[in-house]
Amino acid sequence: MGYKRTVLVTGGSGFIGSHLVTHLVNRHPDWRIINLDILDSCCSPRSLENVEDRPNYSFIQGDVCSFRLVHHIFNTQNIDVIFHLAAKTHVESSFKCPSDFQRVNVEGTRVLLRAAQQAPHKLQRFIYVSTDEVYGPGIDQEFDELSPMRPSNPYSATKAAAEILVQSYGEKYEFPVIITRSNNIYGPRQYTEKVIPRFISLLHRNQKCTIQGTLPKSRHFLFVDDAISAFLLVLEKGIVGEIYNMGSGCEVPIMHLATELIQMIKKVPDSAVSDWMEFVPDRPQVDLRYPIHCEKLRRLGWRAQVDWTHGLRQTVKWYEENPNFWPDPSDDPKQNLPKPEEFRAAL
Ligand SMILES: NC(=O)c1ccc[n+]([C@@H]2O[C@H](COP(=O)([O-])OP(=O)(O)OC[C@H]3O[C@@H](n4cnc5c(N)ncnc54)[C@H](O)[C@@H]3O)[C@@H](O)[C@H]2O)c1
Repeated sequence: MGYKRTVLVTGGSGFIGSHLVTHLVNRHPDWRIINLDILDSCCSPRSLENVEDRPNYSFIQGDVCSFRLVHHIFNTQNIDVIFHLAAKTHVESSFKCPSDFQRVNVEGTRVLLRAAQQAPHKLQRFIYVSTDEVYGPGIDQEFDELSPMRPSNPYSATKAAAEILVQSYGEKYEFPVIITRSNNIYGPRQYTEKVIPRFISLLHRNQKCTIQGTLPKSRHFLFVDDAISAFLLVLEKGIVGEIYNMGSGCEVPIMHLATELIQMIKKVPDSAVSDWMEFVPDRPQVDLRYPIHCEKLRRLGWRAQVDWTHGLRQTVKWYEENPNFWPDPSDDPKQNLPKPEEFRAAL
């Protein structure tokens, strides 16, 4: 079959990538979707089992930093569109092994840009999926796309560095790049190192929510289906060279998130909620909030459709129905959560 478009998704086996790939494969049978993913320890090939036999889907297990492999893909596959999501994403690990983040997030992006720019087939769009964390923490101000980047951890620093590379290709080679900077995305299948699935998984195993630090942290959350609709809108209507903030405006204090999940899952009265919380040490420098202004994306016609309670219930339901999809977060050495007694000692 002759396909109308060939889309390369890097990191397509990860949390957001697997939702994006599933959506593209199902909704666009006349597009060919190629997923390039190394299958890092924080992703599961089971995330894509519903589409793996579909004729318009192909999977390549490989490293985005391998120029030979990536160059070969661009020389042979006539790629029209790239959604570049492959990355190291866990902020805490980025303090422990920043060089891995530098390699995958920066070098991987450079390799992809170079191979795409040298490809015989002309690329229509290169969409780089970045994060609101590149702005650094915002106390009273809201960041728009012209706000300076002030990343405050190695993860966000490498995402910012990759953005600059992407922009430089846009400038130098008139390359059709677009950057998205989104809030925290949540939903079914997210690996349990992120706060929402971690709390849900701990509560389902009758363990307490481990709240890191005592400062009043909050995060803005966007449901994954809304994120996917924003990516597709940016693909069709986004202006080349532009950056789009992507956010729902839904800011949730972490204590409030824990309370909601405890009430939803444990069904306890208000007076017993604190019995399901445990305070553990935070990393030394933590950003309290990342507020962003999303008017530019709204002007393209996008609105978040899934309200917070509905999205959270849908997420909880998925983890209830798939209890063994991910390892127990408290046994998982990769997550390396601090022990409560260390926190008490630090006090
Ligand atoms: N989850 C969020 O809240 C959020 C918010 C804003 C932006 N983002 C960005 O979206 C993208 C996807 O995030 P996610 O939450 O789905 O993360 P994830 O960790 O679930 O997925 C990342 C994927 O990249 C793959 N990968 C890692 N190294 C690779 C390599 N060398 N070569 C090929 N593939 C490799 C992993 O195997 C994994 O499947 C990332 O770029 C992240 O920075 C995420």
